[in-house]
Amino acid sequence: MISECQSLDMTAWTQTRLARVEQALSQWVGDGAPAGLGDAMRYAVLDGGKRLRPLLVLAAYEAVCSGATASEVHDDAALRAGMDEAALRAGLDEAALRAACAVELIHAYSLVHDDMPCMDNDVLRRGKPTVHVQFGEAQALLAGDALQAFAFELLTPDGSAIPAATQATLCRLLARAAGSAGMAGGQAIDLASVGVALTEDQLRQMHRLKTGALLQGSVLMGAACGHAVGAAYQALSDYGAAMGLAFQVVDDILDVVADSATLGKTAGKDAAADKPTYVSLLGLARAQAYAQELLAEAHEALARSGLPDTRALAALADMVVRRSH
Ligand code: IPE
Ligand code: IPE
Ligand code: MG
Ligand code: MG
Ligand code: MG
Repeated sequence: MISECQSLDMTAWTQTRLARVEQALSQWVGDGAPAGLGDAMRYAVLDGGKRLRPLLVLAAYEAVCSGATASEVHDDAALRAGMDEAALRAGLDEAALRAACAVELIHAYSLVHDDMPCMDNDVLRRGKPTVHVQFGEAQALLAGDALQAFAFELLTPDGSAIPAATQATLCRLLARAAGSAGMAGGQAIDLASVGVALTEDQLRQMHRLKTGALLQGSVLMGAACGHAVGAAYQALSDYGAAMGLAFQVVDDILDVVADSATLGKTAGKDAAADKPTYVSLLGLARAQAYAQELLAEAHEALARSGLPDTRALAALADMVVRRSH
């Protein structure tokens, strides 16, 4: 077992994975979409964003696979019988890269729609004009629609070495995280809560759904690519829930303490729009303390996972809480 204290060169770890994800997204997104739709899709996805969700997918996948051969990880006996170790590993790696990109597409679509005049009415995102400002509302709506559909197409490639059962599991996890029990449901609560004084339980539920679900889903998709089961899967799920909620608590804090240039999106929007947030409910100091509590919970979950190397996941949780944008 490698402890969290043994240092991992997180800068190098991140750079190699980001390069892989950027290259894949650039190759896959928008290619051939008609009537300017491809341009809007590429504008929404490429050139910006922390890519936290793809990094979580890859970190969870690697944590589950570390120390195991691909044939130990693979649970599809028929597939295993006909393939050598390298081909099996390539199938697992391909599933993880596709999952990483698929979740980022859902995230990018959610941002395009979140920024539209009928929702948060924002003009700045990732340091650029929002998609509806640049391309018009109808094209923004369609770009979101197309990105969402493409995410599922990416997870179900023809003739690949990814077992059909894994493809189905990834689709189910992503659909669940994005839909009415996850992101879309949380966004509905968010819109219904303008000017409403939510209780702490209600606010927690809104944040778990609108943001936490997709972050937790990223971790679970990575775990599913490595065929995690039992206690390890449960611990990763708990890690994802705590880290995912912490992410939105910090988003609420940054809206108050950071400036628009640093954030790449308009600061101070939550108070201006009278949205209930952790800062409006608890005040800044208690919101910050709560983010730290959730970070500790995330680390505790990793510690009980029994996985040999969770350093990248630990570092990503730290980044979620300590980030400046
Ligand atoms: C912003 O997410 C939207 C929320 C879910 C709060 P990120 O802060 O991950 O945005 P990007 O991808 O880095 O632009
Ligand atoms: C958005 O939450 C969550 C999404 C599902 C996109 P926010 O509305 O707080 O996100 P930002 O602050 O605009 O990025
Ligand atoms: Mg919003
Ligand atoms: Mg918003
Ligand atoms: Mg926000």
